[in-house]
Amino acid sequence: MATKTKKKEKEKAKAKSKAKKNGQITLNARTADRHVLYEEAVQCVEADLDFFSKVFKKTRGYAPHTLREDFCGTASLACEWVARHEENRAWGVDLDRPTLDWGIKHHLSRLGDDQDRVTLIEGDVLASPSPAVQVTAALNFSYQVFKDRKTLLAYFKNAYSGLADDGMFFLDAFGGTESMEENDEDRRISPATRPDGSRLPAYTYIWEQASFNPIDHNIVCHIHFKFKDGSKLKKAFTYDWRLWTLPELQELILEAGFSRADVYMEGWDDDEDEADGIFKKKTRAENMAGWVGYVVGIK
Ligand SMILES: C[S@@+](CC[C@H](N)C(=O)[O-])C[C@H]1O[C@@H](n2cnc3c(N)ncnc32)[C@H](O)[C@@H]1O
Repeated sequence: MATKTKKKEKEKAKAKSKAKKNGQITLNARTADRHVLYEEAVQCVEADLDFFSKVFKKTRGYAPHTLREDFCGTASLACEWVARHEENRAWGVDLDRPTLDWGIKHHLSRLGDDQDRVTLIEGDVLASPSPAVQVTAALNFSYQVFKDRKTLLAYFKNAYSGLADDGMFFLDAFGGTESMEENDEDRRISPATRPDGSRLPAYTYIWEQASFNPIDHNIVCHIHFKFKDGSKLKKAFTYDWRLWTLPELQELILEAGFSRADVYMEGWDDDEDEADGIFKKKTRAENMAGWVGYVVGIK
């Protein structure tokens, strides 16, 4: 029995060293870091920042240099903002200390001395002042944690008063006929090679809409991850939200004091049969099974 176990351990170590040589890292439910998996599968901070800069420049005629990331989590967006330009400064606000600490270890530390230009605030976005900024972002639908009109309006008013005179507020939103159903969506994630040559093996990201209540639009969603060895990281993240609609968001943004609330919808690539990653300002859109958009409040 003891020899059998030893042999197995030897084979395991051999496979691990072979994978390491190929620049691959062993990945399963036991070894995975849920923040790494989330960032790779869900976030594209480069595309978000490109979009903010493009819309800001088009509206104001110059580039913004200050950004506040509400519900910042690991502050990946705030750090990428600072890395982009030596004049850029960022503030990130989140309630969760362990998640902020993960961001300090994995993102701020990589900035070297430039991390002085990122300030992380552990607190509620409803009551955490920071210096006036030109761009405030609340992404991955996080504001949907506010389930009643009064609280969401209070948040939007807070965002408004935290902006400089030329400031803009960027939210993302999702919807469509399938957003009001209980369903699962699987996506295979093939991570890119990192600067140190290592690469995370492919894994599956699962977005589960576990429940939707048509009376109050309460929606509960989970993110699960599935690995090549068959293991699963179930409910790596859970969101208990109200699914706000675009007209509600636009009305509340205007009520909070913004002069305009513009909607940008993502286009569809018919050849690839998938969303094309290009967001255009629209006042009419096709009623699709699923869509993603940005709502932009202009001060
Ligand atoms: C969906 S994650 C967003 C992470 C990242 N910003 C992104 O775009 O993917 C939501 C984050 O919001 C934080 N959060 C929830 N309610 C909050 C509140 N009232 N104030 C500040 N942070 C909050 C949670 O701790 C969590 O890190």
